[in-house]
Amino acid sequence: MRPEEAKRDHYRKMAKRAGYVSRAAFKIKEIDKKYGIFKTGQRILDLGASPGGWSQMASKAVGPEGEIYAIDKRPLKIESENVRFVQMDILKDKITMSGFDVVMADLAPNVSGVWEHDQYVQIQLAQRALEIAESSLRRGGNFVCKLFDGEGVNDIVNRARREFSFVKLTKPKASRKESSELYLVCKNYLREKI
Ligand SMILES: C[S@@+](CC[C@H](N)C(=O)[O-])C[C@H]1O[C@@H](n2cnc3c(N)ncnc32)[C@H](O)[C@@H]1O
Repeated sequence: MRPEEAKRDHYRKMAKRAGYVSRAAFKIKEIDKKYGIFKTGQRILDLGASPGGWSQMASKAVGPEGEIYAIDKRPLKIESENVRFVQMDILKDKITMSGFDVVMADLAPNVSGVWEHDQYVQIQLAQRALEIAESSLRRGGNFVCKLFDGEGVNDIVNRARREFSFVKLTKPKASRKESSELYLVCKNYLREKI
């Protein structure tokens, strides 16, 4: 087995053992450990949540007093007392909820195989996620967002720098080395909600 295949297999087994529906859960776990994203009792908005690994992870981190609003075009594969699912397309439907402590977005299109197209669509999703974060985070809130590296990333990072006091691009170990995904970690939203 090639080292990257072995690594994927390792995270898949770990996810199964820990009861997570996706190995993606380990990416947000690593980000939380390094940057301190979650706290007990928080309200979290999870964009592109299906099958539900990030929501599972956040659900544990915020505990029973916290709540997760999970949004996706596709149904979730998990059920949890503090996770509420809303099926919607974030590019077409309006999110009216606000007052979130954390907005997290692991959005990705169905991969077409044409890299330029997939990267372009993913950046549109990430831009929309940042807009949603801007309209639904409380002051001091955090934002974590997947980005396919390439055109458009700098614009998103620069816009985030105007809105948050801490902005960092990171690649968790649980992310495949050959994949071009990065995660934007933003802390302390600076604007007061009107
Ligand atoms: C990589 S998966 C997310 C995995 C998830 N974080 C987990 O841990 O299980 C990306 C998700 O983005 C969703 N997605 C893509 N475009 C979307 C859109 N326009 N509106 C809502 N969800 C979308 C897909 O349906 C897919 O479930």
